[in-house]
Amino acid sequence: LNIKGFRNEPLRDFATARDRERMAQAVEKVRGQFGRRFDVIVANRVLPTTETLKSLNPANPQEVVGEVGSASLSDADAALVAASQAQKSWSKTPVEERTRCVLEVARRMRERRDELAAWMVWEVGKTWREADADVCEAIDFCDYYAREMMALDTPERLGKLPGELNELQYIPRGVTAVISPWNFPLAILTGMTMAAAVTGNAVIMKPAEQSSVIAAQLMGICQESGFPEGVIGFLPGHGEVVGQALVEDARVHTVAFTGSMEVGLKIVEQAAKMAPGQAHVKHVVCEMGGKNAVIVDADADLDEAVSAVVQSAFGFQGQKCSACSRVIVHQSCYDAFKERLVEAVKSVMLGPPSHPGTKIGPVVDAEAKAKIESYIELGRQEGHLLVQREVPGGGGYYVGPTVIEGIAPEHRLAREEIFGPVLAMMRAESFDEALEMANSTRFALTGGIFSRSPSHIAQARREFEVGNLYINRGITGALVYRNPFGGFKLSGAGTKAGGPDYLLHFMTPRVVVENT
Ligand code: SER
Repeated sequence: LNIKGFRNEPLRDFATARDRERMAQAVEKVRGQFGRRFDVIVANRVLPTTETLKSLNPANPQEVVGEVGSASLSDADAALVAASQAQKSWSKTPVEERTRCVLEVARRMRERRDELAAWMVWEVGKTWREADADVCEAIDFCDYYAREMMALDTPERLGKLPGELNELQYIPRGVTAVISPWNFPLAILTGMTMAAAVTGNAVIMKPAEQSSVIAAQLMGICQESGFPEGVIGFLPGHGEVVGQALVEDARVHTVAFTGSMEVGLKIVEQAAKMAPGQAHVKHVVCEMGGKNAVIVDADADLDEAVSAVVQSAFGFQGQKCSACSRVIVHQSCYDAFKERLVEAVKSVMLGPPSHPGTKIGPVVDAEAKAKIESYIELGRQEGHLLVQREVPGGGGYYVGPTVIEGIAPEHRLAREEIFGPVLAMMRAESFDEALEMANSTRFALTGGIFSRSPSHIAQARREFEVGNLYINRGITGALVYRNPFGGFKLSGAGTKAGGPDYLLHFMTPRVVVENT
């Protein structure tokens, strides 16, 4: 098992009848399982709760996809007791055994991949393609981190001085709280959890409320994959209750968080406070939002640029931290680009994600819909509405893809993360100005440029302040290993999920010197 053997899990090809039929069956099968209950799991035991979270189908909120136990503070305490106990032996468990469990998770996900994708279609409104990619990324995280861990397990001898043996090792940090988002509800939860587990840490998963059912599926897979009792705990519930309790607790050593900037910064602050009895500095792995721009240069291939911008801005309804929310267009091609963009937005297929042809579905919940709509209203005041698609009736949480032009760097539409299908169009007089506009936010996650000019591409490589820069392609869909993903400034603390240094966040380096 080594990194050279790693291959990204191939996506399904829904243009072929076989892949399409299998997925259609899975979608129907999962629909037949609606309304089930899933529970808090601590040390492989169910903890009954009085309260539950109802997970609704965003395309038809009358339908309850599933009900999940909502953990209380005493459940959080039980999870911490179990994790602290399991930590002692799991940290000493040989790496081969730890990787075996993680690879077993990947194997079981491969076996059930259409079904897992189907849960995401129903629970968070992913289209088939987006849901399939989410499962593939989850599998990739398991496989990649397992291979990385094998490499890390061989301690490096430092210096070759005779008579002195210097060894750099990495040891597990300790109990990890994983606080995960609903937008990549399987991939990101799996990535953070398996990174923590394979490095020898007991993990407590606190999934986003909106995606607790798919998280429960992952918990079920973990329970079948051979992890010893207490190594993986499942603590669904409210972030302000159990999430906060985990972050503030002395028994937690690492908090791995992906989500909004507001919550991320609060976690950083809370985790910095010493809790009674705490004898370590908590480490926070935080991956937060973006206000990502694509620059369309004067000599860009507009056909390519239009389709990549539409995909990056509206894929999964714009609810990706990597999504394009600003397109900055050179004045010399502004009108031509605008015309094509508007036509392209008008032609994208909008509807229920359970349908294979759908490209854009509903947003995740009523709160998201209201927030996005208030930004569209603000955009009408700050700029000029170019297009806003009509949405299907029937009460689903749909927001029509929207493009607003006349946005300047000081406008809120150019500065604040909306997390929905709203694209701000900005006009730049020169490439320098475009780059300056692109860099004018607090975020630095993804960015893109469409250009045929080698000097502009070189300048963007040097000066575009983003963690992931994409040249002449879309800006979402980072692949494990090939495109380690994560940003800086207020997008995150410089971590790269799916990259070679990610596992080190869950470990502490240690040096042993022997005089031989
Ligand atoms: N990794 C995802 C992407 O690149 C975002 O979380 O789109």
